[in-house]
Amino acid sequence: MADRVILEAGKTFSEFSLLTDFTSKDCTLQKISLSSSLGSMKLRLPFMSAAMTSVTGYEMALSLGKEGGIGVLPARLPIKEQVEIIEKIKGYEMGFVEDPIAVRETATIDEVVRLVEKHGHSKVPIADRNNVFLGLFSFDKYLEANATPGESVTTIMIEPKDLPCSKNPDISLDEAKNELTEKNYLVVLDELGRLVKIAFRKDVENIAVGAAISTHKGWKNRAKACIDAGADMIVVDTSDAFNEFTMKVIKEFKEMNDSIPICVGNIITYDGAKYLMENGADLVKIGMSSGSICTTQREKATGRAPMTALLDAARARTDFQKDTGKYVRLVIDGGVSAAGDMIIALTVADVVMMGGYFNHFFEAEGEKLDENMQVTNHEPDIKYVATWGEGSARARNLDRYGHVARKTFFAEGEEGTVENWGRLKPKLKQDIRKIKAALSNTGCMNLEEFRNKAVIELMSTYTQPVSYTHLRAHETEAELVCRLLLEK
Ligand code: IMP
Repeated sequence: MADRVILEAGKTFSEFSLLTDFTSKDCTLQKISLSSSLGSMKLRLPFMSAAMTSVTGYEMALSLGKEGGIGVLPARLPIKEQVEIIEKIKGYEMGFVEDPIAVRETATIDEVVRLVEKHGHSKVPIADRNNVFLGLFSFDKYLEANATPGESVTTIMIEPKDLPCSKNPDISLDEAKNELTEKNYLVVLDELGRLVKIAFRKDVENIAVGAAISTHKGWKNRAKACIDAGADMIVVDTSDAFNEFTMKVIKEFKEMNDSIPICVGNIITYDGAKYLMENGADLVKIGMSSGSICTTQREKATGRAPMTALLDAARARTDFQKDTGKYVRLVIDGGVSAAGDMIIALTVADVVMMGGYFNHFFEAEGEKLDENMQVTNHEPDIKYVATWGEGSARARNLDRYGHVARKTFFAEGEEGTVENWGRLKPKLKQDIRKIKAALSNTGCMNLEEFRNKAVIELMSTYTQPVSYTHLRAHETEAELVCRLLLEK
């Protein structure tokens, strides 16, 4: 007999409703913030686009990133492609920093670190008393270096010969862009080698982008290449992360890098969540069998209703925080398809990852199809967008599902089409307003408050259809309930 048989059914988001609470007059949509910080990274929206080849490529990652969320580039892409997209996003805009704050060669590492903390710039030029450029302090390099705070900053500075420099003080932004091929910055000097300005690749709002890796051979090269290209987060993307391979990846990743957050998943149980937290995951991703194109439940009866899985992971987080003082962020992944789902999910999760939802937009990677199912890029004609799961026959992401060979592969995902919803921004903005309105109904100014204060209630099978009612003419409420239950 099975060790445990749980007879209470697992729950999904739409089975809950959110109760209202007192709203003060200051709690207006304009003042409500949906931002959160994930270690060194800040998100203005708690959204991640799924690491699916039908969803996230350059266009989706750029558009969602510009809105303040983060796109996760799938691990199934060749490393080169992932890197190119990250670089393109990071190079989306750039600007000159004229007259940058510089330090003298006599400064200690500690003094420069203080400057970095004060001004938030992670690169500080070092110049002599005549302003002749000597090198660049990089906070990232400092974190990796084995140097003590009292040492001279020159011991860890990057020498000019290893930096992209231009000796044309009148260089234009476009010319600077052309010169920037590998690095994220260009140091501009005059004929005498004096520091004039630095060109940094940066969008006005710093566009965040994530990169998925698998737990299989080659993950380290991929992670390193993506970090070097500027990725803000690495996502270990495996359908079942409660295992030793994943633990090893987290440990080795942390040895290699401790400034970029690592998001690890997926898990669906208390023990799975605790295991990843104890092994160092900065964010834990939850979900299995709940994805919109997922056939895992049908194929191997493995998985869990997403809200139940999330609540269990949250219990693990509370216990882990009690023991260690560390708050690990939770990312819910799979089954969130509308604003209502997002709202219920955000009563517990810090971030929501969505595949199917983002797949509906023009910016998704799937082919755009007209009403005759012909591929078109003419926007007014687009009726559908192609979708496929990473475990589908089309994607055959063997690494994610732990298949060792193509011969033994079986599909755990479907292929199909979803309705076209047009461009991402307008619909996303609408859904953001719905979320803010729900926060306002509960008197919460931000997501942290919402997670701490929200009260949700399970609906009965009778109330659920009523709350999604499409009452037909002459139909009583009782008739409606019966019809909807029968249709289910
Ligand atoms: P959605 O938001 O409901 O579409 O779920 C997206 C999530 O489904 C992804 O982030 C993956 O975790 C998961 N997923 C992607 N492809 C597959 C697949 O082929 N089979 C099962 N799950 C998948």
